[in-house]
Amino acid sequence: MDILCPVCLQKLTKYEKTYACENRHSFDIAREGYLNLSLKNSQKSGDNPDMIRARKAFLEKGYYDFLRDEVNDLLNEDDSLVDLACGEGYYTAFFKCKDKTGIDLSKSGLKIASRADKSTVYLLSSIFRTPLADRCADQVITIFAPIAKEEICRILKDDGSFILVRPDERHLLELKEILYEKPYLNDASRIEIEGLKFLKEISVSRKEKVPQEDLMNLFMMTPYCNTTSQNDKDKLKQITETDISFCFLIDIYRKAA
Ligand SMILES: C[S@@+](CC[C@H](N)C(=O)[O-])C[C@H]1O[C@@H](n2cnc3c(N)ncnc32)[C@H](O)[C@@H]1O
Repeated sequence: MDILCPVCLQKLTKYEKTYACENRHSFDIAREGYLNLSLKNSQKSGDNPDMIRARKAFLEKGYYDFLRDEVNDLLNEDDSLVDLACGEGYYTAFFKCKDKTGIDLSKSGLKIASRADKSTVYLLSSIFRTPLADRCADQVITIFAPIAKEEICRILKDDGSFILVRPDERHLLELKEILYEKPYLNDASRIEIEGLKFLKEISVSRKEKVPQEDLMNLFMMTPYCNTTSQNDKDKLKQITETDISFCFLIDIYRKAA
C-alpha cells in the first residue's frame, strides 16, 4: 500500500532505514520496525506506556480472544486491511489478511506491535490525518477507538468495507457496579457515517471470572481510569475475583459507490 508524506502528501519511497518523498522530506524507520510519520509540532501522543502495559497484560490472558476470532472470520484474506488506532497490535497481528497496515499515535503501542509482528506495516500517525492515498484500502477496521469518519471514507476503495468494534450496553457493567453508586449502561446507539452504508450488526458476549490482578489491568485500559476518583478506585482493590460481562457490537459498513 502506498504511504504518503505527511508534509506534502507525495508518495514516500522506502530506503534502507528511512522513507522519503521527492520533496526530500524524510522519515525514520524506528529500531523496532514502525515508521515514524509524526510531525514535530504534533501535540497528541496516544495511549501512554502504563495504559499500553495494562492492556497488553490483560489481552495476553485471552479474555478477548473470542472477539478477535469473530472479527477475523469477517475479513477477506486476500484483501488489504488498514487498522486505524491499532494500539499494540493484539488484533492486527492476528488478522489473516496478507497486506496489513496498522496506524496509531502511541509510540509505546507501536514499539510492541512492530517488534512482535513483521507481517504488518506500522505507522506512527494520527488517524485523523491518515498518511494513505484516496481509495487504497479494501477493508478498514477500528476497534475501541476514536472513529475518523472522513478518513475512513476517503481511504476506502469503492465497495470497500469498514468494520467498527465497540462496547455494547452491558459491557463491563459489573466493574461499574463495584466502582460507582449509580452504574449506567453504555450508549450503544448506532453510528452514522456519511458515504458508508450500514449493512449488519453482530452482537457477541461472554461472562468470565476475573481475578484481582486482571481486574486492575482491565480498569487501566478503560476510559473510566481517567475519570474515577481515588476513593472509588480503592474499592477495586478489595475484590479478589468477580464475574465480568464482556459485550461487544461489531458493525459492518460498505462504502456507497
Ligand atoms: C482503547 S485503545 C484501542 C487499541 C486497539 N484497537 C485495541 O483494541 O487493542 C485506543 C487507541 O487509539 C489510539 N488513538 C487515540 N487517538 C488517536 C489518534 N488521533 N490517532 C491515532 N491513534 C489514536 C490510542 O493510542 C490507543 O492505542
